[in-house]
Amino acid sequence: MKTKLFKKITSGLLILFIGIQFFTVKLNTSTILPESSIEKHYRIPGNVQQILKTSCYDCHSNNTVYPWYSKIQPVKWWLANHINDGKRHLNFDEFSPYPKDKKLHKLDEVAETVNTGEMPLSSYTFIHTHAKLSSEQKAIILTWVKSMKGQINKEISAR
Ligand code: HEC
Repeated sequence: MKTKLFKKITSGLLILFIGIQFFTVKLNTSTILPESSIEKHYRIPGNVQQILKTSCYDCHSNNTVYPWYSKIQPVKWWLANHINDGKRHLNFDEFSPYPKDKKLHKLDEVAETVNTGEMPLSSYTFIHTHAKLSSEQKAIILTWVKSMKGQINKEISAR
């Protein structure tokens, strides 16, 4: 009796698993770098750019690099959810038009979340191990945030 029930449950789950594969999710990809992107207005050193692209851009830009397993449900939903949420808080591709105060505040948050290890999300680095930040990489980000803030503070506040 017990094994029959077990079989029923497993085949039910299998059907469910196959069924959810048919749900598509709009991909967060774009081939053009928008005018509003941070790179179009600020010179970002190559090593900083590299770190941001590898560790942050999957959830904080308009262009996610999707690994093969992200095409499998429910990972696709999980990632889409994080991307939407992440972009709502900070989108490097929409950074330039942010008002000055918001730019400074977001940069403070970048420093803080990187410093405390809150970002990139640990549920993400668990699989994307290459996105984990070393202490040197954290230091590079913190130095960059300081220089960016200096640069932004000098801008004439038009807004
Ligand atoms: C897997 C997706 C993901 C990655 C990768 C990621 N983030 Fe986030 N980030 C989020 C989500 C989701 C939120 C909003 C919810 C939260 O604060 O946990 C967020 C919020 C933030 C915020 C705003 C915090 C606040 O209090 O509003 C900052 C700043 C941030 N992330 C910076 C970064 C930086 C810098 C990196 C790379 C070093 C990074 N994130 C990598 C998903 C991600």
